Amino acid sequence: MFSELLVVGRFQHDIQDNINFWGKQLPAIATDIFHYETYKARRCFVPVHGTGKNCRAVTPQLLKRRVAHLGPPCHMILCRAALFLNLLNMVQVATMDILLCNHSQEITETHMQYRNIGTTDIKASVIGFGTFPLGGWLWGGVDESAAVSTIQKAIDAGINLIDTAPLYGNGKAEELVGKAIAGRRDRVVLATKCGSLWSTEDWPEGKGQLFFYTDGELPSFESGKYRIYNYLRPESIVSEVEESLRRLKTDYIDLLQTHQQDATTPIEDTMAALEKLRDQGKIRAIGSSNVSRDQLQQYCDAGVLDSTQEYYSYLNRTVEQNGVLDACTEKKISFLAYTSLEQGLLTGTLDPNSQFGEKDFRKYAPNFAPDRIAKINAALAKFQPIREQHGLTVSQLMLAWVLSRYERMHVLCGMRNPNRIDENVRAAEVPLTAEEMETMQSLFDPATVG
Ligand SMILES: NC(=O)c1ccc[n+]([C@@H]2O[C@H](COP(=O)([O-])OP(=O)(O)OC[C@H]3O[C@@H](n4cnc5c(N)ncnc54)[C@H](OP(=O)(O)O)[C@@H]3O)[C@@H](O)[C@H]2O)c1
Repeated sequence: MFSELLVVGRFQHDIQDNINFWGKQLPAIATDIFHYETYKARRCFVPVHGTGKNCRAVTPQLLKRRVAHLGPPCHMILCRAALFLNLLNMVQVATMDILLCNHSQEITETHMQYRNIGTTDIKASVIGFGTFPLGGWLWGGVDESAAVSTIQKAIDAGINLIDTAPLYGNGKAEELVGKAIAGRRDRVVLATKCGSLWSTEDWPEGKGQLFFYTDGELPSFESGKYRIYNYLRPESIVSEVEESLRRLKTDYIDLLQTHQQDATTPIEDTMAALEKLRDQGKIRAIGSSNVSRDQLQQYCDAGVLDSTQEYYSYLNRTVEQNGVLDACTEKKISFLAYTSLEQGLLTGTLDPNSQFGEKDFRKYAPNFAPDRIAKINAALAKFQPIREQHGLTVSQLMLAWVLSRYERMHVLCGMRNPNRIDENVRAAEVPLTAEEMETMQSLFDPATVG
């Protein structure tokens, strides 16, 4: 893979052994370098100080100059490579210090982009961490300690936007986020929601709208132990916020979003409650979710709406057709896209034989029928040339496509497997041109897969 490879630090073994070892055993570094090579179409040089035949002596001064010369994306790769090598005791800590103290800032800034939420000064990462799968409910349960460490890994990778909701596991996802951000609150843009509530009782006519039922693990439109109601009366929002703050173990929410809309409550009443919470400092920004263009307008008429969160993926273009995306552009409202990987379908990692757990809703969803997965994979294969040109995986291309549609776009990714994080974060680095998106459309028209 590498035509020239020089490694930072003083090796304790022969350089060739280390390169072999690295190539076979450290795919994370190899991926970083491969990504950089293909994306920038340049070679990645990692300077070496060692004794093997391929090594080159590097003084600290030369090392500093070399790193400066390589430019910001390489700082990150160097630091990551050096960190791994340090862990393996292959590189001197003194050299590590030079790299980290001079370039740790660039690591964060270059690896991820941050955009303001609406007209606020809140800067949120363009890749957001979605906690719907981590809540376990509908997704076959959750390993709590793995969930907490996955969120923490995402924060360390530069993802500061964390999206959650009381709905996800009836508070479970918020509790896990609360555990994960303890001691890290200032590094996080915490987005949660209100207005979709679990109830064991039927509610009287005119109080909220019944959304669906659940037995606590899977959804149903007919019956279940719990009813999920959409309800946005001011007093309910206020008490929901108190519950969220308790579960999240914080005293403010960065972005509070109305999860689903409630035809039994005027939007101006809902917005008045949200504006009051903002005045009190309990929330810093206001967002909606799952709105029509008319509802979005009503929010804007009643106060300052900073964002909306909507279903948007290469396959699902509803927001382009219903005018919501255009309205966001006109009004400078941030857009948080959800389900942009189609819950795994647009990642190229599912196949017609993929098995889902008994309590994973995807096992029963027609969207995940084997023949549909096969059709989508065949269509995704047509993107190979454009993926190779940018050095992208299928998931990265799908996320980059969404991010390139609008300058105030953020894309939320559900990730239980921590290995997804580095891969998805890199999608933020590759803006696609309008021409490239047109080419994609000509290769794969979503209408062909239904
Ligand atoms: N406002 C709303 O009504 C609403 C509705 C739905 C979702 N949301 C928000 O949006 C977030 C994202 O949507 P989502 O979670 O429904 O779906 P999603 O992000 O489209 O898909 C999540 C699934 O994709 C898999 N995945 C992620 N990155 C991958 C990669 N690089 N390679 C292979 N598989 C990958 C994950 O697998 P693993 O689990 O195995 O890691 C997970 O199963 C939610 O978590 C939630 O915060 C909001």
